[in-house]
Amino acid sequence: MIQIRLQKYIRDAGIASRRSAEDLIRQGRVKVNGVVVRELGSKVVEGDLVEVNGKKIVPIEEKIYIKINKPVGFVTTLKDEFDRPIITDLIKIDTRVFPVGRLDMDTSGLLLLTNDGDLSNKLIHPSSEIEKKYIANVDSTLSDEELDKLRKGVMVDGKMTHPAKVFKRRGNNYEIIIHEGRNRQVRKMFASLSKRVLELKRLEFGNIKLGDLGLGDWKILSEIELEGLRKLVDR
Ligand code: URA
Repeated sequence: MIQIRLQKYIRDAGIASRRSAEDLIRQGRVKVNGVVVRELGSKVVEGDLVEVNGKKIVPIEEKIYIKINKPVGFVTTLKDEFDRPIITDLIKIDTRVFPVGRLDMDTSGLLLLTNDGDLSNKLIHPSSEIEKKYIANVDSTLSDEELDKLRKGVMVDGKMTHPAKVFKRRGNNYEIIIHEGRNRQVRKMFASLSKRVLELKRLEFGNIKLGDLGLGDWKILSEIELEGLRKLVDR
């Protein structure tokens, strides 16, 4: 559970600067769960009742938008029943963020995380039709006819996929751009042609690019990136 320093909690509630928050604590005007707390090192966790001058305060959460280069082996859920590593283990910040959509455990590459539920919901809603670009390494070469089938749509879980953009790259690598987000969609699209995806990496999500982000590294989105994302859903 994430712990936050009491003075930061008070500052984030917009009550006082961090320095004045420290004064409030020293003066015994701050209670946590009904008990006056005077130590500046005190921490609070979600669910604690914090009162200043007898009034409950709640921090105004700053919105945060992150991109990470997900390594293979991490799950994109917030908890895992099998105790596998979870993607947020890699992000050591005070704020709780969650993944925008998902990537399979055995897929690497670009994943967005945020605490902005509203924007996240819009981005993953099928009507947004956000393009996602992947590079897939496949166990054998596809013929032109097979490439065409992938482009036009193939049967996955009893339903045709929407048209996709597919380009052959070096060796048995294929760049594929889809705007749906069905479960294991890229792997299943190739599987419908009896091809096995050996490696899958996401390179782009809408206007956001993985770029040269190292494996397991993360960055806060730039203003330009965030503005671009918002434009994709504010239509
Ligand atoms: N398609 C897949 O098969 N897996 C992913 O993680 C994303 C798209």
